[in-house]
Amino acid sequence: MKVYAVLGDPIEHSLSPVMHNAAFREMGLDATYHAFRVGIHRLRDAILGADAMGFGGLNLTIPLKEGAMAVVEPDETAEAIGAVNTVSFRGGIRGHNTDGIGASLALRRYGVSLRGSHILLIGAGGAARAIAYQLSKEGAEIVVTNRTPERGQALAEDLGLEFRPFVEIEDLVRCSDILINATSVGMRDGDPRLFDGSILRSEQVVFDIIYSRETELLRDARWAGAKAIDGVMMLVYQGAAALEIWTGLEAPVDLMEAAVRAALEERREN
Ligand code: ATR
Repeated sequence: MKVYAVLGDPIEHSLSPVMHNAAFREMGLDATYHAFRVGIHRLRDAILGADAMGFGGLNLTIPLKEGAMAVVEPDETAEAIGAVNTVSFRGGIRGHNTDGIGASLALRRYGVSLRGSHILLIGAGGAARAIAYQLSKEGAEIVVTNRTPERGQALAEDLGLEFRPFVEIEDLVRCSDILINATSVGMRDGDPRLFDGSILRSEQVVFDIIYSRETELLRDARWAGAKAIDGVMMLVYQGAAALEIWTGLEAPVDLMEAAVRAALEERREN
């Protein structure tokens, strides 16, 4: 039996075990997937230990994605992004990043075309970096804004994008075709809005990478008649891409989506 795991802190709310175990069952693989709470100071031990014990692969989440760069051998994508969300152990300890492709496939699934589109990307953490890298590679025109300007400027500079100060957010929203929230704002009930949602228009696409609840931003987008996309499909597609790296097999995307949606539904009821 192959063992897989997601490492992070906090980790108890991760839906990756539910999603991947459903996929393993469907694919008929003798494999199991667990979540382990690991902080940044034990990351090296955990990755080397997983390798020593013959694990099939790992996913990494907050706060480990950037720190893992020093432990693994990053592939070209992880290197360009500066963060790792997937580790494989075949032929060395390799680091990959499937967050960007996850976001891109999620947008495509909802019929959004990226080439030449004007995207406002809010945020400059690991998720924002992966999204910016992938969507700009696919020909989108991306403007980055972030509460802490230094962090946003560093992202924009690394990837050759434009940075605009956070105080301009409403003008930036008005000028964009696609708005992406890659911040953690909206994750908790009662989080303040990033901007006044009444300025959204029906021709716009609003993609919020948060999947655990319906955010105020997505509610505002629906109210405006805009296309509102939550983070579920990004979670599913980044997981599917990781599964394909580990096994070389096509992942059962629809079943993984159903497993995630069922788990979310169950959580909402409790
Ligand atoms: P991840 O790796 O998941 O992207 P992260 O590195 O913690 O997570 O990044 C979180 C993002 O949310 C950052 O862009 C952060 O802005 P700062 O760089 O200014 O910290 C953004 N963020 C968090 N709380 C915010 C708030 N209240 N208003 C605006 N942006 C916020």
